[in-house]
Amino acid sequence: MSILVTGGAGYIGSHTVAELLEHGEQVVVVDNLTTGHRGAVDVLQVPFYNVDIRDTEAMVQILRDHEVDTVVHFAANSLVGESVQDPLKYYENNVGATTKLLSAMVQAGVKNIVFSSTAAVYGEPEKSPIEERDRQQPTNPYGDTKLAIEKMLDWSYKAYGLKSIRLRYFNAAGAHPTVPIGEDHRPESHLVPIVLQAALGQREAVSVFGNDYPTPDGTCIRDYIHVMDLASAHRLAVLRLRSEEGGAESFNLGNGSGFSVKEVIEVARKVTGRAIPAVDVARRAGDPASLVASSTQARTMLGWEPQHAELEEIVASAWRWHQAHPNGYGAE
Ligand code: UFG
Repeated sequence: MSILVTGGAGYIGSHTVAELLEHGEQVVVVDNLTTGHRGAVDVLQVPFYNVDIRDTEAMVQILRDHEVDTVVHFAANSLVGESVQDPLKYYENNVGATTKLLSAMVQAGVKNIVFSSTAAVYGEPEKSPIEERDRQQPTNPYGDTKLAIEKMLDWSYKAYGLKSIRLRYFNAAGAHPTVPIGEDHRPESHLVPIVLQAALGQREAVSVFGNDYPTPDGTCIRDYIHVMDLASAHRLAVLRLRSEEGGAESFNLGNGSGFSVKEVIEVARKVTGRAIPAVDVARRAGDPASLVASSTQARTMLGWEPQHAELEEIVASAWRWHQAHPNGYGAE
């Protein structure tokens, strides 16, 4: 019995692979390396296929050869801004490719999938903290593709008995404490790595997008969650799917407390001991003022307990990776 991880060369995917391996699971990675890193799978020393999940024939073969019982599906495009500029790319790469992946699973008789979803399925929240049953009204194509896939999974459970757990991540950050893997997006758009690049002197300053939001200091509030806590939730989701429990379920993953952009920069100044210049600039289109998760359901139903909830610890682990790997996985 093994677990196939699509997008296992990416940021959250590679950390989940490390977590699964550490718990004795057999893991195989499929990644087309458009945004993932060969360096990550090399470090993890895991069976790896440079295959696109749209290649149904190859996928059915891999699922059969490795006796896969569960797929953990990360492979997707995930930039909100880019999805607004080029929505069709997102429908094709996210919805289209996942349709193909699910057909390969049905053909190969694989019955379980853990799906990488997002807080972006909620859009502008009605209330805080956000619960799973709250209104889902994405404000960008990226969130809409993830919601469409969640619906496809609902129907696939009814039709084919394909069980799914959709994990809706809030803001992932941090890096593995011992294995040399971490966050390396090109170009980088996420706050924590950008702040740390500024700490390293790779950027002149952090641009703070908007200082007039209805929050205490006027900057956006997000719920930051350690990537290893996300990884452990995926492992628990696999265990739940393998049990008699479950069906088609969604869980939020966050710490339940929010930090503003300015608070994140302040924490990073403390952790790094560097000045980290910041300048206020205009709002970025499509940013909700505040996104904070209620993760009560993940705690009660998955038995999930975040182990690295402190923002200082999250930023410190990312800082160790950035200092040791100032150019990420290097030239590829
Ligand atoms: N920010 C800045 N300056 C920067 C980068 C970010 O001020 O240089 C701000 C953003 O405006 C936002 C906050 O920092 O208020 C966090 O931004 P990120 O880009 O790090 O993360 P997002 O909250 O935009 O996005 C994350 C995931 C998405 C997911 C979304 C769900 O990266 O994949 O959460 O809302 F869709």
